[in-house]
Amino acid sequence: MSNIKDIEDNVSVEISQAKSLEDLQKIKIKELGKKGRISSLMKSLSKVSNEEKKALGKSYNELRINVLKAFELKEQELKELVILDRIKNDKLDVTLSVRPGSNNDEGKIHPISRTIDTVIDIFSNFNFTVETGPDIENDFNNFTALNIPEDHPARQDHDTFYLKNKNEEDRKLLRTHTSPVQIRTMIDTSPPIRIIAPGRTFRCDDDATHSPMFHQIEGLVIDKNINMGHLKGLIRSFCEEFFEVSDLPIRFRPSYFPFTEPSAEMDIAYIKKDNVLKFGEGDDWLEILGCGMVNPVVLENCKIDPSKYQGFAFGMGIERLSMLKYGITDIRSFYESDFRWINHYGFSPMNLTSSTGL
Ligand code: DAH
Repeated sequence: MSNIKDIEDNVSVEISQAKSLEDLQKIKIKELGKKGRISSLMKSLSKVSNEEKKALGKSYNELRINVLKAFELKEQELKELVILDRIKNDKLDVTLSVRPGSNNDEGKIHPISRTIDTVIDIFSNFNFTVETGPDIENDFNNFTALNIPEDHPARQDHDTFYLKNKNEEDRKLLRTHTSPVQIRTMIDTSPPIRIIAPGRTFRCDDDATHSPMFHQIEGLVIDKNINMGHLKGLIRSFCEEFFEVSDLPIRFRPSYFPFTEPSAEMDIAYIKKDNVLKFGEGDDWLEILGCGMVNPVVLENCKIDPSKYQGFAFGMGIERLSMLKYGITDIRSFYESDFRWINHYGFSPMNLTSSTGL
């Protein structure tokens, strides 16, 4: 038995002295390889009596397990040393300027990112802060708290991707809109609230104008004495800034969303000239967003007293805004990662203008 202890001590010393992964590997082969010391011990069991085999087998096995563990620990330690050494010695100077003639390799900002940044910029100037929420939501935040209960027909419109859940009650899903961020914010903070929430959203839908993954921006204002006039003024200012048109003709059409009452959809006037959309002229209308006064039921669901606070909310599709602003016609092209497309529609990170000059 003491022989076994000696072997274990001896291997530990050898392991502790290994300076590199290669050293360690050599020791491993010497001890545990086919002809290694410990493997030979194991083989020797075939030559002993059954009683001896029991006792010896157990201790040989323990020895093998202990030695394996010691190898694993040392391997981990040496791997970390390799990483630390690389971090210390590999130098990457990110401040170096681009080599002349390699301009084509410059990355471009994707129009979706650019649109989100632009919308955030505009709303930051209106004193809004940015909130985010997770892609995977629960049923309560995505539907129930927004006044879309189980049997509500609006649920059908959402073509939801459900995750496989063991527990039906705690059913998880890919959020179908950014509106659950309203709920999260109202539950977590008290009014006044003034936020926008950009993010990915998911619906089981796929054609030239729908993608199973797309982006929305949600807006929410909760305070005392808020009315529809505030909503209309804010949305008008946003659209004028975003589409870079002053005195933009807009129109609010009555609509229905379970989480707002009254609800509206907002359109802007446009005309198509030489196959290009011009905003603010003509008498055709383009739908831009959905909005309304937050339904008191939703406020109550988030423990906000509707007799004290009111608010409005709005939600818009980023792809749609981006397609309109930059003249992109097929939603699927956003996600195809085609270099020619991104070179054409993307934005230079240095001067933030697109190669199309927009
Ligand atoms: N969540 C809606 C959708 O995905 C969009 C929306 C409409 C959001 C009205 C709002 C709103 O906050 O007030 O279709």
